[in-house]
Amino acid sequence: MAVMVTGGAGYIGAHVLRLLLERGDRVVVVDDLSTGDAGRVGDAALEQVDLSAAGATDALQRVIGDHQVEAVIHIAAKKQVGESVVRPAWYYEQNVGGNAALLQAMEAESVRMLMFSSSAATYGLPDVPPGTLIDEEAPPRPIAPYGETKLVCEWMNRAAGTAWGLRTVNLRYFNVAGAGWKDLGDPGVFNLIPIALQQLTSSQQPKIFGDDYDTPDGTCIRDYVHVLDLAQAHLAALDYLGHADQPYDVFNVGTGQGASVRTVLEQIAVSSGLTVEPSVVERRPGDPAQLVARVDRIEEVLGWRSKHDLAEIVDSAWSAWQHD
Ligand code: UFG
Repeated sequence: MAVMVTGGAGYIGAHVLRLLLERGDRVVVVDDLSTGDAGRVGDAALEQVDLSAAGATDALQRVIGDHQVEAVIHIAAKKQVGESVVRPAWYYEQNVGGNAALLQAMEAESVRMLMFSSSAATYGLPDVPPGTLIDEEAPPRPIAPYGETKLVCEWMNRAAGTAWGLRTVNLRYFNVAGAGWKDLGDPGVFNLIPIALQQLTSSQQPKIFGDDYDTPDGTCIRDYVHVLDLAQAHLAALDYLGHADQPYDVFNVGTGQGASVRTVLEQIAVSSGLTVEPSVVERRPGDPAQLVARVDRIEEVLGWRSKHDLAEIVDSAWSAWQHD
């Protein structure tokens, strides 16, 4: 199949790209290279397009036509929650505006298969008892503009299904980490594992944002999913789109297993051999005590489940960290 991968030069996109190329799909990457790295695209075709810029729809139509694109995997987006709180209009322009340009280009070129990169941030702070797994029917109540933009894009995709027959799979990523290859580590230092690795390799110690949550060790619990497993889920979604019998699906992508901040830091100590002595600081605003996915639906419909555990996630993140 001929696939356009937006954001294919980024952390997650480059993993998806590599798997697509390994199995022989034809791929064109669209990336504005604002955070992506052309070096990660290898020999694949790369078109530098800013999806939110004036003229993006025309540029995308040209790329779709030139490469005879049959399906789109749309990963390109801004993804920093804190930044989205400070620059909400810009986040809407980038993420929602970018999705609008893409959908209009796809409609004009009659490309009707879309895999959209959504987020567990759409759930916000679920009001559930401790230990509850979050399924896709949980009410979406994002608490930051970042999650809002992802939810609005899901709605846009659903409306395009009604209007002109677009078929969309929306994958709600939980906490993505690790590296499938040593040269594809997460270049952004915005999440717990890379932040802790950066601190530990520069003579600092990690900080735990609160240890008085209603969880067994008092620290927040998240569902860490290996980026390679996540990338495999994109391929499963793409295959499913070819024969999907409904226009619109939403799937959680996680493991169904939670790990606390302390557990992750302990694993970092084991994987790296470094001495980890975290300090506990104030809670960070907007953190749910626990956010762990129910993953039954993606397993039933796409036949996908995660294969890698937390130790493999952290081992691979550490290997990639040393590689860079
Ligand atoms: N944390 C610390 N210390 C740090 C960094 C993080 O204690 O230095 C804690 C956070 O408070 C949180 C956990 O580690 O409890 C994970 O934090 P991250 O910032 O790595 O990730 P989040 O769970 O906040 O958010 C991530 C992505 C979002 C996505 C969400 C979905 O960044 O884009 O997962 O679950 F929406």
